[in-house]
This record gives sequence, C-alpha cells and structure tokens, in this order.
Amino acid sequence: MELYANDTKAHDEARQGEAFESTSPQHHFNKFFYVESYGCAMNFADSEVVASILQNNGYGSTRDESMADLILVNTCSVREKAEQTVRKRLTEFRKLKTVKPGLLVGILGCMAERLKSQLLEEEKLVDIVVGPDAYRTLPDLIAEAGTGHKAVNVILSRDETYGDIAPVRLDSNGISGFVSIMRGCNNMCSFCVVPFTRGRERSRDAFSIVAECRDLFEKGYKEITLLGQNVDSYYWNNPETNASVTFAQLLESVAKIDLGLRVRFSTSHPKDITDEVLFTMAKHPNICKYIHLPVQSGSTRMLQLMNRTYTREWYLSKVARIKEIMPDCSISADIIAGFCTETEEDHQDTMSIMKEANYDYSYMYFYSERPGTLAAKRYKDDIPEEVKKRRLQEIVDVQWVLSNESNKRDVGKTFEVLIEGNSKKSDQEWMGRNSQNKVIVFPKGNHGYKKGDYVQVLVTDFTKGTLLGNVSN
Ligand code: SAM
Ligand code: SF4
Ligand code: F3S
Repeated sequence: MELYANDTKAHDEARQGEAFESTSPQHHFNKFFYVESYGCAMNFADSEVVASILQNNGYGSTRDESMADLILVNTCSVREKAEQTVRKRLTEFRKLKTVKPGLLVGILGCMAERLKSQLLEEEKLVDIVVGPDAYRTLPDLIAEAGTGHKAVNVILSRDETYGDIAPVRLDSNGISGFVSIMRGCNNMCSFCVVPFTRGRERSRDAFSIVAECRDLFEKGYKEITLLGQNVDSYYWNNPETNASVTFAQLLESVAKIDLGLRVRFSTSHPKDITDEVLFTMAKHPNICKYIHLPVQSGSTRMLQLMNRTYTREWYLSKVARIKEIMPDCSISADIIAGFCTETEEDHQDTMSIMKEANYDYSYMYFYSERPGTLAAKRYKDDIPEEVKKRRLQEIVDVQWVLSNESNKRDVGKTFEVLIEGNSKKSDQEWMGRNSQNKVIVFPKGNHGYKKGDYVQVLVTDFTKGTLLGNVSN
C-alpha cells in the first residue's frame, strides 16, 4: 500500500501545516506561553502539539519564562525521581507567580493524569491540570483559570491521536524531528505507570503520519523518529476502505518519501517486533540500523513477575534474528535493577544477558515503585535501596565495558554521518550520528559541508560515548 503518492488527504494536511506557520508569525501574539518538558520523547512531541493548539488560540511561544503569561510543565511519572524534579521546578515557578499577578501555571502530562485534582491540593499555586488526552480543551481551561477558578481535565480517550494537528517544532535543530504514530499502551508491565497515565493504545491515521513526515522533509528535516510506547503493535484500519496498515508498511511508506530522509523508531517491545519489520529495515538503506529493544531483566523469573511475556531464551533468539538479518544493526536496552524479590542470581542473569546480547548502549534504572501499578498492588518492594544502587552500578559497569568494546570495533570503519550541528566543544568540529545512532565528532576542515549534509567519516578514535574521525575522501 502506497501511503504517500498523490494522496489528496495527505497533501491537504501538509498544506494545513504550511498555512499555519505562515499565518502565525511571532509578532502577532500579545500573550506568550513557556513550556518545559520532562520524560520520554512522546512528552516532548506532545508539547509541540500543545504549542500548535496554543498558537491557534493567540499564544506565541517564548523560551524566556519571565516573559510568559502562561507557564506549562509537561510532566513524567515513570519514576519517583521524575516527579520530584517537577515538584522542585514548580516551587521556582511559584516564586515567579508571586511577583507576576495574573501569571497562570499549568501541569500537563503523566503526573497530571496520575494525581489529577490532588495536584491542586498539593501544589496550591497551580491553576490548570491537563492529562495527555485533553490538550484540545486547553484554551477553555486557560479561560476558566483566567477567571480565578482552578481548571482540570484528565479524561483519557480511546481515540484521540491529535492526528490532524500540525505540531509547532520547539527547540528543534531543524534536522531531526519526532513524529508520534500512536498513543497509550495495552501492555501491563507490572512495574509501569504508563498504561494508567496514557490510557489504551490507539494508532494514528497513517496518511496523516506520512503527510507530517513529508512536510518535515520539505522543510529541510533529514531524520524522523516515529514514536510510540510499542511501535511494533501499530495497526491502523482505514475507516473509509477498511484496509489496514501495519508498522512495517508504515515504516516503508515513510522510508519511500525520499532516500535523503533517515527514518528511526522507538520503542520496540521484543514480543511484537516481527520479521516483516526486520526485512523492511534491511531493504531500505535510509531506515537506520538501530533497534532499542528493552529487556528489563535477564532472569526469566523476574520477566514473569514483570509481566513482560517473554523468557530470557526467547529474548536472546530475537537478538540473534536481528543480527542474522542485519549484521550491522546496533541494539540498545532498558534495564531495571532491584525489582521485587530480585536475588543475586537474578541480578547475575541480567549482567550475563547484557554480555550475550552485546548491547551497544543501555538506559539503566533502579526500580521505583509506582502507586497503582500491578507490582505495587501484588509485590513487596523488598530490595533495600543500597542493594538496588549497588546492583545498578554493577550493571552500569558492565555496559561501560560493552560500549567501549563496541566503539573500539568501529575504529577503522567508515560511516555515513548526518551532520546535526557543531560539536559541544568546538565550532571547528561537526557532530552527527551514523545509522547505528552513534555520535561521531570530526573536524570541519575546509570541505564546505553544512548542517543537514550527509558525509562519509572514517573513525580513528573514540572517547567515552563518542566516536572521533575525519572526513573520508
Ligand atoms: N514502552 C517502552 C518499553 O516497553 O520498554 C518504554 C517505557 S518506559 C517510559 C521507559 C523505561 O523506564 C522502561 O523500559 C523501564 O526500563 C523504565 N521504567 C518503567 N517503570 C519503571 C519503574 N517503576 N522503575 C524503574 N524504571 C522503570
Ligand atoms: Fe510500560 Fe510495558 Fe507499556 Fe512499555 S510496554 S510503556 S514498559 S507497560
Ligand atoms: Fe514519563 Fe509518561 Fe513518558 S510517565 S516516560 S512521560 S509516557
């Protein structure tokens, strides 16, 4: 199924996006909002939807909080620490509110959904609380809060995807953009709060996704990351034709927009990633050879308690399949240390699966009990904090060695790098990524390359987390 070629709906939506930007120059606004986002990429993408809704209602965006008439904090609940960070930030905004009467402060996102109006009790100076599926009602809620009433909407939806809204890109480098393809999650991993804060899984209209990606490409973007909590279970049924679109088909349609547009995706649940997706990745050079495949634990007993629905062996066979189909594919994982009842043996299993899967990179956390989750209801959070932290450190140490070896293997190889901008250290160096999602820094020299160009780079060395190289002629 071709999702992009001369499709009227897709073109209409792309035009809508253009018209929106040209009719909304900053200087027309007399009110400004400031938004700060926490948590996963989906939250950042949601803030861009919120920016679009607000701009259509007369609010311009500002990156200077002291200029704002409305401050929004898009929050995360995944671990307790994420919520603590937000609360700290709110105390700073509280101070601003006391010197600027009329300033409104709103909480968006997962913490708003989890705590609902309880947040108004706890955070007395918050005026607005909005859950992830209620952003279309923000203008009404702002109006209500403007009259001195507290405004709350945390209703979750079964069909909201914001598919028709052209996001306003915030803090973008103009090269890489996120595009949400679905919302919510139907998996019930026992440790995880996301199904409660984001609601049921639903897939966005495939035409609107391809139109948004095409629009970004036409605006100069060179890399798109398709976002969902579990992208492999994307499944959209066209209500007009009853034809369905799978994730592999969607991926292919986005890849076909142009060979000069790189496509990435996140996150894959190991139980759902199919051979069809892997073969689609292998077939298209512009689909990046990188899969984020969270394992959570290497112990089958833990995986069962976590309700991940796969065993250690099954997970490793999936890794082997990825490497068989795409030997150059890099793999990263999410890992949780110290989940309920975890023994030293379970912990050893996690460290050994990391070595067997040979992860290029991992995101590692210690378990943080979240109220309302299956684990909080069923199991005791019985691993002492110092044990959790010690195990986490051991896991981090294993990953450090694996990442180091992975980088060492890349020395002497030449990669195509998409230039994202100057390196952090010097404006004489470019920073970009290869298909495998590794950061590569190299001297600009006088090759005349610019941001957004693809360049062949020979890797000569590496530091912690970064490959170093030179333009290869
Ligand atoms: N949907 C993705 C998946 O299936 O892996 C990611 C969801 S979550 C936003 C990102 C990561 O946070 C998870 O993969 C898990 O490792 C971690 N996480 C979730 N809940 C956690 C908790 N209660 N304590 C510690 N880490 C947690
Ligand atoms: Fe949470 Fe599991 Fe859903 Fe990921 S797949 S968001 S870890 S419930
Ligand atoms: Fe956090 Fe919600 Fe994302 S809990 S990780 S912001 S889905």
